[in-house]
Amino acid sequence: GSTLQAAAAETNRYFGTAMAGHYFNNSGTMTITNREFNMITAENEMKMDATEPSQNQFSYAAGDQIVNWARQNGKQVRGHALAWHSQQPGWMQNMSGTTLRNAMLNHVTKVATYYKGKIYAWDVVNEAYADGSSGGRRDSNLQRTGNDWIEAAFRAARAADPQAKLCYNDYNTDNWSHAKTQGVYNMVRDFKARGVPIDCVGFQAHFNSGNPVPSNYHTTLGNFAALGVDVQITELDIEGSGTSQAEQFRGIVQACLSVARCTGITVWGVKDSDSWRASGTPLLFDGSGNKKAAYTYTLNAL
Ligand code: XIL
Repeated sequence: GSTLQAAAAETNRYFGTAMAGHYFNNSGTMTITNREFNMITAENEMKMDATEPSQNQFSYAAGDQIVNWARQNGKQVRGHALAWHSQQPGWMQNMSGTTLRNAMLNHVTKVATYYKGKIYAWDVVNEAYADGSSGGRRDSNLQRTGNDWIEAAFRAARAADPQAKLCYNDYNTDNWSHAKTQGVYNMVRDFKARGVPIDCVGFQAHFNSGNPVPSNYHTTLGNFAALGVDVQITELDIEGSGTSQAEQFRGIVQACLSVARCTGITVWGVKDSDSWRASGTPLLFDGSGNKKAAYTYTLNAL
């Protein structure tokens, strides 16, 4: 294939990108997005603060712009994200207990119902595990509603949209030997054993020199897949430049291709200048939209 999406399709995988509302103002970015990618994630426009700015008053215009453009151009959509400790609307941030639990479940139900039939996979819960050596849950207002908040969110999402794949998504879960990876793995294993509806695990894959691409990544992806879930690279970016950056992108592609249930890869933006990273050049296209070495290595590895 001569594009990322065409090359990925040769092994029945997708290649996606995050896109933000401001992409629509840049025709060069839109041309690249349409040509190269066939899976779209809204960078911010479908998060809790964007879709429910006032309690039980939902706002879908910004999400719809992205979802409708994707579908009109033959692309699928990853929904991101239904429940998360971050980017909560102000009204939710100081809620607790049963009030918060019910508000969260109402959010999951309403948003998943609104987008029913249009979503390939939802990140139902994002970033619920703690960094460091505990292997346990992150403290948050949602976690303080009870340890079962995650499975409650997944059950609500399944009831609202039975066709969408339901994913747990997190970062720093790439290295098999890390406690956080083991914590998420144990949760997924428990969910599968007890029949909690979960279909996939997303690996954000934000890498930099302090958090490099692990050499055992294929082991991590393969072990999760062996639990009976799909795995996906959901927010890929890698700080760096030149050949060394390109080789790391190649390593990610090879790890995914080595696991039958790794169904696709999404990068977290199109041009370096679009990246959420304050500085650096972590994406596949430079600020002018030129293909970088990272692009060529990625394409050739697919
Ligand atoms: C980031 C967006 O890229 C930024 O524009 C925003 O200011 C903050 O969130 N993990 C996630 C994504 O799951 O939603 C985050 O996206 C990056 C880290």
